Amino acid sequence: MIIQKSTNPRISTFDPTNFSFGNTFIDHMVICEYEDGKWGDVKVVPYGPLPFSPAMMAVNYGQACFEGMKAYKDKDGDVFLFRPEKNFARINKSSTRLAMPEVTEEIFLEGLKALVNLDRDWIPHGEGLSLYIRPLVFATEEALKARIANKYMFAIVATPAKSYYSEPVAVKISDYYSRAANGGVGFAKAAGNYAAAFYPTQMAMEEGYEQIIWTDDSTHEFFEESGTMNVFVRINDTIYTPPTSEKILDGITRDSFIQLAERRGIEVKVEPVSVKAVVEAQRNGTLKEVWGVGTAVVTTVFKALGYKGEKLNLPILSLEESFALSLQKDLVDIQTNNAEDTFGWRVLVEKKVLESA
Ligand code: COI
Repeated sequence: MIIQKSTNPRISTFDPTNFSFGNTFIDHMVICEYEDGKWGDVKVVPYGPLPFSPAMMAVNYGQACFEGMKAYKDKDGDVFLFRPEKNFARINKSSTRLAMPEVTEEIFLEGLKALVNLDRDWIPHGEGLSLYIRPLVFATEEALKARIANKYMFAIVATPAKSYYSEPVAVKISDYYSRAANGGVGFAKAAGNYAAAFYPTQMAMEEGYEQIIWTDDSTHEFFEESGTMNVFVRINDTIYTPPTSEKILDGITRDSFIQLAERRGIEVKVEPVSVKAVVEAQRNGTLKEVWGVGTAVVTTVFKALGYKGEKLNLPILSLEESFALSLQKDLVDIQTNNAEDTFGWRVLVEKKVLESA
């Protein structure tokens, strides 16, 4: 690994009580280039723009995928990652589907740990605070032929992240647009999945909703995901979530919620969730909660579902009453080292002094 430390670090200007998530970047980034059938050296370098041509294949044909993960700092200043091996496995699954090369454990996990260790001062400590980390793979070859590229870059950038708390939102159950199709790339964290969701989301926003509940593309009768998150439904005291498939992202927060719910003795049914059953449950008062889960905000609770022009309201529950909020708390307590990690999910980032090469 090659470490090139910034000679002009910005950390002294970073105010952990006043920053903007998503466009405040830590001092360094990881880069690794793929050419002639192999990955080169992993480098930790000062964060900044890279020279690319508009003829770059990622831009023209969308060969690009990413991951989302976080690092947390506890009260003693120790830094932890959460289930990073899952992100490592998933980025390679996404890359394979997009005909891009897999990265090695050394590139992904060692690059990640070196970056997080080096820029540990950028990780804010406190309720809801963390470092959001974005590993990505994209085609860098300068060519306009529509074929698999032969040059790629793996990179990791990171931005401090704020409170998990997000206001309950109204979501529209999609009866037209789709996020994924059978045989498609829905399970992958393909950049294009997000691009394709922006326009339908904007349409839903114009109707007064903040997000979309994505339904299956052939009948629109079954829930798939919500916004950029996996979806959970609670009817009476049972939680339902659709099984992962080639259309549904295998979310790490989703998997963690299922395990935490089972630990609490809550019945979890991983099975197709029909729009009809959810609407019926809302009408007869047994629908208690619907929420989305993902790395970025952990949980977004829904206050209303838009269904065929009707707004179906949901109760707003307290932390004690809500499965969504209780499970979120269980998860965040483990992530931030405020609770015993009986699952072995936390990974300590060892403190090492790294010298520039
Ligand atoms: C997540 O919920 O972690 C996401 O996938 C959102 C991300 C695209 C910002």
